[in-house]
Amino acid sequence: MAITITMGIQKGGCGKSTTTGILSYLLKEDGYRVLAVDMDSQGNLTEFLSEQPSNEFMGRSILEAMQQNDVEKYIVPITNHLDLLPANNFLATFPRWIYTGKTYQGDTLPFKGNPSLILDQILDQVRDQYDFILIDTPPSLSEQTTNALCASEHVVVMFECSSWCYSAIPNFMDSVEGARNFGHRDTQVVGILRTMNDVRRSDSKAFKEMIEEDYPNEVFQTTITRKAPVGRLALYGFNGNPELKQALDQYNRFYKELIERVQGE
Ligand SMILES: Nc1ncnc2c1ncn2[C@@H]1O[C@H](COP(=O)(O)OP(=O)(O)O)[C@@H](O)[C@H]1O
Ligand SMILES: [Mg+2]
Repeated sequence: MAITITMGIQKGGCGKSTTTGILSYLLKEDGYRVLAVDMDSQGNLTEFLSEQPSNEFMGRSILEAMQQNDVEKYIVPITNHLDLLPANNFLATFPRWIYTGKTYQGDTLPFKGNPSLILDQILDQVRDQYDFILIDTPPSLSEQTTNALCASEHVVVMFECSSWCYSAIPNFMDSVEGARNFGHRDTQVVGILRTMNDVRRSDSKAFKEMIEEDYPNEVFQTTITRKAPVGRLALYGFNGNPELKQALDQYNRFYKELIERVQGE
């Protein structure tokens, strides 16, 4: 049965999509069968892994999979051991469909059932086909995020070492607790990953230390620093990228810590 992990925080620009893409790559390189799920209408993970514009997946995305209660039809094979459920801008119509039945293609009946458990229930159709399911989330505590949290056993809290991310943490932790109480997967924070750490800035260093004081058991020992090859992954991708080794260097250490935590239970 797949282990499902969501990368989340309601602030943008914290490395969620980058980390989800890199983890998907590292897991499949390690021989695990991986399904990457894009729950952000920006479609960044979709473009990262597929190397195509997210608009290419119009009508063939996670939104339609949820609306039609059919996952397999919408799975996009990326490479050996790595599949994707893509997203595009139309995923922003997800809440409207839940509450009114209106889709971008026309009216349907309003959704009947639990609005936070739609993703959890459709992933059940394929959980036995994967070792890991990784979910990328939008920068908001929206229906896409609550669905991702309720569909996951584990959550990696993405902490960009900055003031506004620091203030996002308590509400995000509450949302994980809500998913644990409300959903069926005993959703837990598996760790807090400090990202985008700017080694030249004292405020970055201060927030990196403050979060460790607040959550000493949760923070991963590995901190991801701000480095150009990681940022340029969005441009070059994984195939034929001459600086891939530098881009993945610090993530290899985080990967080991994460695997130990999720498998050590
Ligand atoms: N460690 C890093 N060093 C430099 N740039 C990074 C790093 N991680 C992510 N980026 C870049 O920062 C931006 C935000 O990252 P992204 O993964 O899109 O965050 P989120 O999904 O949380 O919004 C992107 O342009 C990405 O390429
Ligand atoms: Mg993103």
